[in-house]
Amino acid sequence: MSITISPMRAEDCMAVSEIERECFSQPWSLKDIERQLTLSMARTYLARDGETVVGFINVWTVADEINLNNIAVTQEYRGRGIGRALLEYMEKRIEAERCNLEVRISNEAAIGLYRSVGFEEVGLRKGFYKEPTEDALLMTKHYRTETGINGEKYGI
Ligand SMILES: CC(C)(COP(=O)(O)OP(=O)(O)OC[C@H]1O[C@@H](n2cnc3c(N)ncnc32)[C@H](O)[C@@H]1OP(=O)(O)O)[C@@H](O)C(=O)NCCC(=O)NCCS
Repeated sequence: MSITISPMRAEDCMAVSEIERECFSQPWSLKDIERQLTLSMARTYLARDGETVVGFINVWTVADEINLNNIAVTQEYRGRGIGRALLEYMEKRIEAERCNLEVRISNEAAIGLYRSVGFEEVGLRKGFYKEPTEDALLMTKHYRTETGINGEKYGI
């Protein structure tokens, strides 16, 4: 296995759409994914094994805040550190004060991943998800701390 991570290109959108359909009950459409390439606030990064796309992360950045919309790794590649590598790759490339996300309260793998890289639980959104209806756990990671990956800002 030789995993590389790089930004999504137009020719990758179909592969990302297939991972969306494999992983989510309400997947983004191919159009939604293609649209990400046209939005200045959006960044989508892919993990590949050779030429095969095996995972992706999509975030939107508004002002100093990253919103993590989606992260997924194909079933056979899970549990090998690819999810964490995608998150860390994104964090190295986008400077922000914090990153926010919602996750299904039953999604132990994702919650475990987010906790493992420093996200904290900050709230609950009742009935946020459909198919099936479920609460969302809100999680946040702050970067502007002594240990934050972006370091302290001094305004000079
Ligand atoms: C969530 C997801 C992206 C994790 O990807 P992954 O590549 O398997 O995760 P990693 O191998 O990088 O795991 C990193 C850490 O996450 C946690 N983790 C991963 N899988 C876990 C599981 N099944 N249960 C509990 N914790 C888990 C662990 O802390 C792990 O660290 P460790 O291996 O050192 O113990 C993957 O399970 C997935 O694609 N799920 C379906 C899509 C999804 O639910 N996305 C989240 C939407 S909010």
